[in-house]
Amino acid sequence: MDIQSVGIVGAGQMGNGIAHVFALAGFDVLLNDVNQDSLTNAITLIDRNIERQVTRGKVSADDKAAAMARIRTTLKLADLGATDLVIEAATERETVKQAIFEDLLPHLQPHTILTSNTSSISITRLASRTDRPEKFMGFHFMNPVPVMQLVELIRGIATDKDTFDACLAVVDRLGKTASTSEDFPAFIVNRILMPMINEAVYTLYEGVGSVKSIDESMKLGANHPMGPLELADFIGLDTCLAIMNVLHDGLADTKYRPCPLLTKYVEAGWLGRKTKRGFYDYR
Ligand code: CAA
Repeated sequence: MDIQSVGIVGAGQMGNGIAHVFALAGFDVLLNDVNQDSLTNAITLIDRNIERQVTRGKVSADDKAAAMARIRTTLKLADLGATDLVIEAATERETVKQAIFEDLLPHLQPHTILTSNTSSISITRLASRTDRPEKFMGFHFMNPVPVMQLVELIRGIATDKDTFDACLAVVDRLGKTASTSEDFPAFIVNRILMPMINEAVYTLYEGVGSVKSIDESMKLGANHPMGPLELADFIGLDTCLAIMNVLHDGLADTKYRPCPLLTKYVEAGWLGRKTKRGFYDYR
């Protein structure tokens, strides 16, 4: 299956990064969001992030211009029906994702592969609500998308080999590395990463260390590029909580219980960098 065009649902942190890497790799990109401001901001951010790569000599000015010209935006979800591959990168809430698929399905061409950038939700369950479970899979990027080398590919129980092979070839063309995960809650990266972040929040909650000492300990003591609380702010505390809830509900083990402090921050609307307040204050 020859994939030339990609439709991306959601122009937020993940969606704009995904559009960035696909456009640079030569795919035609159609980026969709419900909000014109989000689309406008996404184009500004992509331009700025590719310019950063130009400044550092990683991308030529001509390649940047060609990539930017390959990205189109639309407020109409139906327009994505004309693409070969759709990647849903909306909020990490199952009801939101399902509503998007429901609206999109009548417009899709029969050959279009449908994927979700979900970080934790069951691919098999999402696929079962569509008309193409054999052409549905998980296509999970890491944040920041232009920098992180990994893409997790997750097969649902019904995903066929052609679909998986086509997605694997796309990851290869993006110059990234695929890891294959079976369809269990939070897959591989977040199954391991989120309990660590949650434990860092417990460490703060129980007064074992301050925000600064927890982050510095993990940066200097375990060579992590960011401390766990800084990373949680970067990912979004609402996303971290949503993933812990998927682990807790899906695996029914108290070791995945979200820390009450994480819940409280989310209830306060302190979601990390995107709201300018989380474990750190960005105001
Ligand atoms: N677009 C393009 N390039 C970018 C970029 C972006 N958005 N953000 C950073 N960069 C580039 C910089 O230009 C720089 O490039 P060079 O190496 O060529 O100089 C490089 O990335 C490093 O950036 P900085 O020097 O600005 O900053 P840094 O050295 O502190 O690195 C970081 C920043 C890459 C984010 C690093 O701190 C890091 O790796 N943090 C951990 C990130 C991580 O763990 N991500 C996974 C989160 S989990 C996830 O995503 C899964 C999920 O479902 C929740």
